Amino acid sequence: MRADGYTGVTDAQHTLRRRDVLRAAAMVAAGVAFAPPADAAARISALIAAMTLEEKAGQLSCFNDEIRPVGAVFNPVVAARGAAAMLDDIRAGRVGMLFNGYGVAGARRAQEAALESRLRIPLVFAADVIHGCRTIFPIPLAEAAAFDPALSERAARAVARETAAGGIHWTFAPMVDVARDQRWGRVAEGAGEDVLLGSRLAAARVRGFQGGDLCRADAVLATPKHFVGYGAVRGGMEYAAVDMSDAELRETHLPPFAAAFAAGAGATIASFTDFNGIPVTANRHLLTDVLRGELAFAGVCVSDYDADRELIAHGVAADEPDAARHAILAGIDMSMQSGLYVRHLPALVRAGRVPVEAVDQAVRRVLALKEALGLFDDPFRSLDAGVETRATATPAIKALAREVATRSIVLLRNDGELLPLPRAGRRIALIGPFGADTANLNGPWSFAGDPRAGVDLATGLRAAMADAGALTVEAGCAVDADLPGGVERAVAAAHRADVVLLAIGEGGDMSGEGNSRVSITVPAAQQRLAEAVAATGKPVVVLLRHGRALALEGAVRDAPALLATWFLGEQTGHAVADVLFGRVEPTGRLPVSFPFATGQQPWSYDRRATGRPAPADAPMAPGRSHWRDAPDAALYPFGSGLGYTRFRLTDLNVPARIAIGAAVPVAVRVTNVGARRGTTLVRADIHDRVASRTQPVRRMKAFRHVTLDPGASSIVTLPIMARDLTIITARGDRAVEPGMFDVIVALGDQAPLVASFEAVARGSAGTG
Ligand code: BGC
Repeated sequence: MRADGYTGVTDAQHTLRRRDVLRAAAMVAAGVAFAPPADAAARISALIAAMTLEEKAGQLSCFNDEIRPVGAVFNPVVAARGAAAMLDDIRAGRVGMLFNGYGVAGARRAQEAALESRLRIPLVFAADVIHGCRTIFPIPLAEAAAFDPALSERAARAVARETAAGGIHWTFAPMVDVARDQRWGRVAEGAGEDVLLGSRLAAARVRGFQGGDLCRADAVLATPKHFVGYGAVRGGMEYAAVDMSDAELRETHLPPFAAAFAAGAGATIASFTDFNGIPVTANRHLLTDVLRGELAFAGVCVSDYDADRELIAHGVAADEPDAARHAILAGIDMSMQSGLYVRHLPALVRAGRVPVEAVDQAVRRVLALKEALGLFDDPFRSLDAGVETRATATPAIKALAREVATRSIVLLRNDGELLPLPRAGRRIALIGPFGADTANLNGPWSFAGDPRAGVDLATGLRAAMADAGALTVEAGCAVDADLPGGVERAVAAAHRADVVLLAIGEGGDMSGEGNSRVSITVPAAQQRLAEAVAATGKPVVVLLRHGRALALEGAVRDAPALLATWFLGEQTGHAVADVLFGRVEPTGRLPVSFPFATGQQPWSYDRRATGRPAPADAPMAPGRSHWRDAPDAALYPFGSGLGYTRFRLTDLNVPARIAIGAAVPVAVRVTNVGARRGTTLVRADIHDRVASRTQPVRRMKAFRHVTLDPGASSIVTLPIMARDLTIITARGDRAVEPGMFDVIVALGDQAPLVASFEAVARGSAGTG
């Protein structure tokens, strides 16, 4: 054992100079994150040489912030000790990071305690800022419906500014798990089922959070999570095991992480789950060979909450020391909440069961991260009470939250052009448990949100209507229970109205972590309400609230107008009114497929074909792939969504041949054939017809919005990059295999145009 005692490093030696910090930040922005410049690295080495094993284990440990608690958070209470004991631990060098606290004053107290520790290493403050900090934005799944990386980047930038103003340096976001099973509650936190959309949004959110220069006071370190495969838990059951082929890992689940790391993300959280029999927290292949080796990730890998200790429950560790040993050797740099590293790492090293080099390497990464954030230079960065007051809940961020919310809404059905509604001259009955309710606007993860800021539907609608008195509001039932006389009152209100808005769906606590559902339907009491209201014969517009795709039934499925409105955050009422009355056109598209029935899960549009696919015009043909009681298709597949005008695609143009290694220039004419100006999303998917491994029936490779006046048309180009044609071959390498490819160009869920090209070895492409 070497150099564990104090060797007298001076303050000057471990106070990193601004220049070095800026250099580190520039490297982060360039995607070579967290390799400190040479002299800074030398100072980190000097610091490591000065640290005791106990201090090293302290830097590798993070805990729920009990100094500035925010009330109920999702996680179970583990190792709670109270603010005073936590401050003592910080002074003793036993804490490297605190998470899920909010507010500058408490953070300053904690940082002052850290600066009283022997080596004066500053704390870093993290939090689960998943869709807004003080100002709550739509859940990430909703935001994904905008299909707009630039919008997501803008949102993440604004959220980062507000987060940093509240004394937080690091967010445990974005969640980039690809999720194809809507029973899993955490679908709400990610970008849905598609690899390309997930990857683009992952990178955009990282850029937005980190802002290109991590040591700026308004930059927030990003944490693409959960590495890796969590979205594929068996049966959609929370925390369950994952079994996955290597090709599926590489083609579907790794790309969003690769994109986020390439955008400079400096941290990740390991998945809680078992992966092919080895829980990720103990999985050296994933956390070291793949994460560090293949993806060249140089930042900090944090365990999930108590996940190192959970290795005992998984049955791969005998006891706490064994669990800590597994985790550090696999590649977990920081232990979250269990306290296992503080309690056991020093003894494990002294006993020769963990090499000190493994500990030092993790400490080096954590210190490099603190350096990249500029914390050695200014431990009180982002801890300014004046900024906290000025830069939170500003009119600008609220306007952006409203814009993102309107862009998240997806119009799924609009029979007879029932929508948009006129602002005057209609009596409207707003029926359902979410009509006048602010408790269910946000969905999961909104711990620091201002509860008084939420705009419910009734408030938003009244503000937009010419005559607010034309709106009546009736709950009809509770989220999951009947109300005495509720349905009768709702039916009476419907009879008195010209149009019914039915605000139904999931309660705010029905999705998110720990909220797997065996049946992803509208709760029974609300379904009964919907049937009774539909029986009045009045036109019904369903305003669906949800944190996942739902399997719609009966009167909800069959309503003439249907809007997917997710959990839109504090500006819900205004955003829904904007779209209902046509101030804003609905432009969202589904980032997850809505199935016919729960039993179809897991389901995604980019499945591989069966040997006996059902013909499109006979989905229930005997002896073909379908269920007895549902087709092998989605009710509203990925990408579905309408606007208030109509578009037509013509003139798809794709070269007949391309040389492998070249991009494929796809062009198509889009015409607005409706009567209103509007925006649509054009997308290009490909299908590799014959390959050494079976390929998805289609997979999106490019997408783009186009805005046109009535009657106008435009040629839209959708370049498919050379890399987009690569597959994981039967041999396990990544390559383009020569042969025929189909290009499928579509708008929403309309019938697509299809063209094909041949990919040929370079030199034999000829003229295409
Ligand atoms: C979740 C993480 C989260 C962590 C800290 C865990 O239960 O899986 O996503 O970042 O808690 O709150």
